[in-house]
Amino acid sequence: MEKRLIITVDGPAGSGKSTVSRILAERISYIYLDTGLLYRAVAYKAMQHGISIEDDEALQKLCDGINIPFETDNGKMKVLMDGDDVSDRVRTEEIGMFASSVSAVFAVRDALLLPQRSAGRYGGIVAEGRDMGTIVFPGADIKFFLDADADERARRRYAQLMENGARVDLAEIKRGLEARDYQDTQRKIAPLKPAVDSVIIDTTGIDVDDVIEKMSIIVEQHTKMTVS
Ligand code: DC
Repeated sequence: MEKRLIITVDGPAGSGKSTVSRILAERISYIYLDTGLLYRAVAYKAMQHGISIEDDEALQKLCDGINIPFETDNGKMKVLMDGDDVSDRVRTEEIGMFASSVSAVFAVRDALLLPQRSAGRYGGIVAEGRDMGTIVFPGADIKFFLDADADERARRRYAQLMENGARVDLAEIKRGLEARDYQDTQRKIAPLKPAVDSVIIDTTGIDVDDVIEKMSIIVEQHTKMTVS
């Protein structure tokens, strides 16, 4: 029987990792795990409770026994908060930025570690985030790290938000992305960085289809190697 792999995809916001991870997972009938969505859900809950980022104690309390059920439905990941599907509501730039701040707090990362690992316990998963290849699945079968220059990432994010009906400013989006990159790469715990054994793909100027093709070839080669 073919081994069901753990495939990790890390990278900064706007690198294209969500789109390609979702499509790749669908193509090979794997689970798609969008871990950014989990951090966004925690940030949303903290916001609802009026918790400030400086209040470590309140964040710790919020995370104690926190339960964030998530599932993949029709290739799309959904996250529930107190029984309510908040997946679409949390995909704003504001919550993205707050999620980036909240994700630097130990209690938050600690609370999410087990649920993430548990989603990959049988393999057959494409897990996307910032620390999938370094911390959550250090023994993953294939690790990708996607990157792209800041202008292109900002343009992609801008187009995506406009398509969803948001009114946004491109320069502001770029400033937000860079601020988030800084926070995500400079934090002490599980900073965004490529795992030493990752395949780095610069997606600047490359079509989504071409990136997926490149990744699929690597997955296919790996699957053949594992079977034979
Ligand atoms: O992928 P995203 O833009 O939805 O993620 C939102 C924030 O969550 C991101 O800026 C940092 C944090 N995050 C993280 O720290 N670790 C992950 N594995 C995924 C996201």
